[in-house]
Amino acid sequence: MHRTHTCGELRLENANQEVTLSGWVQRIRDKGGLIWIDLRDRYGITQLLIEEDRTSDEVVKAARHIGREFVIKVKGTVIERSSKNPNIPTGEIEIDLNNIEVLNSSKTPPFTIEDKTDGGDELRMKYRYLDLRRQPLRRNLELRNRLSIETRKYLDNEKFFEIETPYLIKSTPEGARDFVVPSRMNEGQFYALPQSPQTFKQLLMVAGYDRYYQLVKCFRDEDLRADRQPEFTQIDCEMAFVEQDDILNTFEGLVKYLFKTVKNIDIAKLPVMDYADAMKYYGSDKPDIRFGMKFVELNDLAQNKGFAIFDSAELVVGINVEGCADYSRKQLDKLTDFVRKPQIGAKGMVYVKYNEDGSFKSSVDKFYSQDDLNVWADKFGSKPGDLMLILSGDANKVRKQLNELRLEMGNQLGLRKSDVFAPLWVVDFPLLEWDEETNRFHAMHHPFTSPKAEDIKLLDEKPAEVRANAYDLVINGVEIGGGSIRIHDRDLQKLMFKHLGFTDEEAQDQFGFLMNAFEFGAPPHGGIALGFDRLVALFGGSDSIRDYIAFPKNNAGRDVMIDSPSVIAQSQLDELSLNIKKKI
Ligand code: AMO
Repeated sequence: MHRTHTCGELRLENANQEVTLSGWVQRIRDKGGLIWIDLRDRYGITQLLIEEDRTSDEVVKAARHIGREFVIKVKGTVIERSSKNPNIPTGEIEIDLNNIEVLNSSKTPPFTIEDKTDGGDELRMKYRYLDLRRQPLRRNLELRNRLSIETRKYLDNEKFFEIETPYLIKSTPEGARDFVVPSRMNEGQFYALPQSPQTFKQLLMVAGYDRYYQLVKCFRDEDLRADRQPEFTQIDCEMAFVEQDDILNTFEGLVKYLFKTVKNIDIAKLPVMDYADAMKYYGSDKPDIRFGMKFVELNDLAQNKGFAIFDSAELVVGINVEGCADYSRKQLDKLTDFVRKPQIGAKGMVYVKYNEDGSFKSSVDKFYSQDDLNVWADKFGSKPGDLMLILSGDANKVRKQLNELRLEMGNQLGLRKSDVFAPLWVVDFPLLEWDEETNRFHAMHHPFTSPKAEDIKLLDEKPAEVRANAYDLVINGVEIGGGSIRIHDRDLQKLMFKHLGFTDEEAQDQFGFLMNAFEFGAPPHGGIALGFDRLVALFGGSDSIRDYIAFPKNNAGRDVMIDSPSVIAQSQLDELSLNIKKKI
């Protein structure tokens, strides 16, 4: 028998029991007469004790020959520790050893396998199986497992049907590049890996499956960031005979259920915010509403007073930062430098301090009287002790810049706590988005999203003003999910493709299968997909998804452990009719 107990299991109640444990050697402390070994497995750590005077010579000798990460099997008696460790569940006991068997030796690991490791990112990615031995990563994967089980429970209870859809498909239009797979049997032809199962889930609605879900891998060839991986997992869902509210209610239910069962947090009814308001008050379609600092527009008060920068701006807009009127010159300069960074791109920043004595001190005192600033303060809802920060310029750009500044202030003031959760729905997204690069409109969500019935008439004249039946689930400033009510009418779908610049032939070639299906009784339908990795990371209190994925890619899209992507043999290329000349 390899073990009677796991390394996380034994307590004081087990004292005097004879036990067998197996696991990895985390640490050895040899104090001459006394040797302690920390033995680790998935369940925890148990301390082993060897006393030179009492323990047999054989065991002492064996203990002196093992090293870190050796796999050993030990036998001994559970005893009460003289100095207890309240930080671990097994901290009150240790095992008085009478036998050690080495099951396997180990090379010295390239980094310490402890909660805080000395290994750099790249090294830990290369030896991911060692990194995964560390408790923090194990806990992350445990959280992931728990969330996937609870998600399935909830959706199953709501009569959703889990159906797998294929991975070797044809391009899906989610807006990123496809990963493609050459077909050996069809020379010169390629499959695409799904960016999402979008078209399949719609076909399942045509097929009458009514409520579909899948925890599914999606593949997108796009630039990577902390919250993006080239392959990631979605909780993908679709429902028939529903309207937007039915979907919002069902998935609000999922969000509440997960927070309650996994974190024991009660989430109140989710606020619903229009896209237009999100942009106006937060400068972002994914506002972090854990804190205030809503945007205040100042054009009517700040323009025409002789300050040319404000006068020439399309928008003058600011935030009120509570309790920061005592910011020093240096702190304010730092903020100005922050908004001037090329990634943010503001030209400058105006500040107004509302001093505790009721007076104002601003960077634009030359142009505005104390009375003027007092009126501004009213509009901002400022109190003495507050600081107003104001940017100006082109409306869209300045909103984005102020969004960055607001988030930065939120960070600086500790208002973005990772254990506080503020979910909301953002709705009424624009249907179309102008793309500067290609000089044409793209579907903001995807081309199957239905326009709002009352806005269809604007499609020809004012396409940018058409709103969609599309919604995002946002939590703590992160886009966790997105979805829409779909078009289920062939003619409307054809019209949409036309507006997106597809010729009839192109539309037929790429999406004929879907439009044809719409001729066979497609029910009204809609759905949503939640980014599962992002959801898990959020629950874990992190904004980087990498540590919540067992085997992630690095920022260059590489798996450095298995060294992929890599070149393939010329014979394989030939078989696939890929005439790529190998680089020498
Ligand atoms: P969308 O493209 O908005 O919608 O994707 C849904 C959610 O998936 C997550 N996500 C990602 N997570 C990690 N890495 C990535 N590269 C990545 N890309 C997206 C985000 C996002 O909100 N088919 C539609 C859904 C629908 O209409 O039902 C879709 O895929 O959290």
